[in-house]
Amino acid sequence: MNRNDFLKKVGAGAAFALTATCLGGCAVENIAPDSPIAASNGAVDFTLDLSTSGNAALANNGGYVIVNNNVVVGKANDGTYVAATRTCSHDPRKQVRLRNNEWYCTAHGAKFGLDGRGKNSLGANGLTIYQTELTGNMLRVFA
Ligand code: FES
Repeated sequence: MNRNDFLKKVGAGAAFALTATCLGGCAVENIAPDSPIAASNGAVDFTLDLSTSGNAALANNGGYVIVNNNVVVGKANDGTYVAATRTCSHDPRKQVRLRNNEWYCTAHGAKFGLDGRGKNSLGANGLTIYQTELTGNMLRVFA
């Protein structure tokens, strides 16, 4: 086997592994946060421990987790953490996820920028975005 044959085999294997593990955005659904999801005033405010296996999807750009079926927390392509409501503004379906560095609703295809602004007619009403704050391995998500 020459070098090119080896690289072709390794490359194909790596591509298969990535496809098999990350197809659909490297998501883990319905992670319980490491703190209550809401602050005393009812606003979203919780913390995820990024060192736990349940949050491993957040180690990779493009990965995301869904917290209590209410909030999507993802890692953008620039390595920053982003968060948004899971509930779409088109219809109140909880099908928003991170895809191609934007928020995407799988129900009918609404698209939103990471800042929550609609990117197509279905997303015209925008999306509620949450702030994130990383301290060590602890990622706080809050309104
Ligand atoms: S409910 Fe999200 S696009 Fe229609």
